Amino acid sequence: MNDAGVPTTPVGANGGGLILPYKGTYPTIGKDVFIAPNATVIGNVSIGANSSVWFNVLIRGDDHWIKIGERTNLQDGTVVHLSKDTAPTFIGSDITIGHGCIIHGCTLEDGCMIGIGAIVLDGAIVEKGAIVGAGAVVPPGKRVPAGEMWAGCPAKKVRDVRPEEFGHLARNATHYCGLGEEYLKMRRALVPGM
Ligand SMILES: CC(C)(COP(=O)(O)OP(=O)(O)OC[C@H]1O[C@@H](n2cnc3c(N)ncnc32)[C@H](O)[C@@H]1OP(=O)(O)O)[C@@H](O)C(=O)NCCC(=O)NCCS
Repeated sequence: MNDAGVPTTPVGANGGGLILPYKGTYPTIGKDVFIAPNATVIGNVSIGANSSVWFNVLIRGDDHWIKIGERTNLQDGTVVHLSKDTAPTFIGSDITIGHGCIIHGCTLEDGCMIGIGAIVLDGAIVEKGAIVGAGAVVPPGKRVPAGEMWAGCPAKKVRDVRPEEFGHLARNATHYCGLGEEYLKMRRALVPGM
């Protein structure tokens, strides 16, 4: 258990990844988190149980902190960073972050979805169950209200999230938990003792 109350497992027990300290602070990684072998996690970062960090993701917690909740997936090529002293990054639970996103100094609340290639900038807040469309840019300080779908550059409201889409968001997050579990099993079979 770390200071933030996140249960941790030894570094290396998560499938791999380059896990580095920054100024003596190591990331703390919850139980059964899959971290792809070529993902990089640095410094003041915590990741909650059953989340998954896919290939080529970079999570760099150097000049501030980054917290990631449980059952959240960060898909291939995504970058998570922050701004020195002014903007940490908080990513809640049950969130899908698509391939190639940039999540920078902002807050993503539980159950939202960030579409492929989207960029969310400092001080922005994506509220619960909101959808940010593929390729969108959410400008600094903007709030995407709960249950709304925003898209475009700069991102603007397109419509409300449809009731059936909430189920889809939840299923997607669950699907990625299962996928992460499978990859962890494969890694543990390949690397005894992991
Ligand atoms: C946001 C999204 C869910 C909306 O899809 P949709 O239901 O087909 O969209 P709608 O039919 O309601 O579109 C409404 C309007 O928004 C536009 N629009 C939809 N997605 C858009 C996007 N990503 N960027 C810009 N405009 C978009 C549509 O062209 C349409 O415009 P129009 O009314 O002028 O024709 C989808 O486009 C998307 O971005 N999905 C992300 C998928 C993803 O990244 N998954 C994560 C990895 S698994």
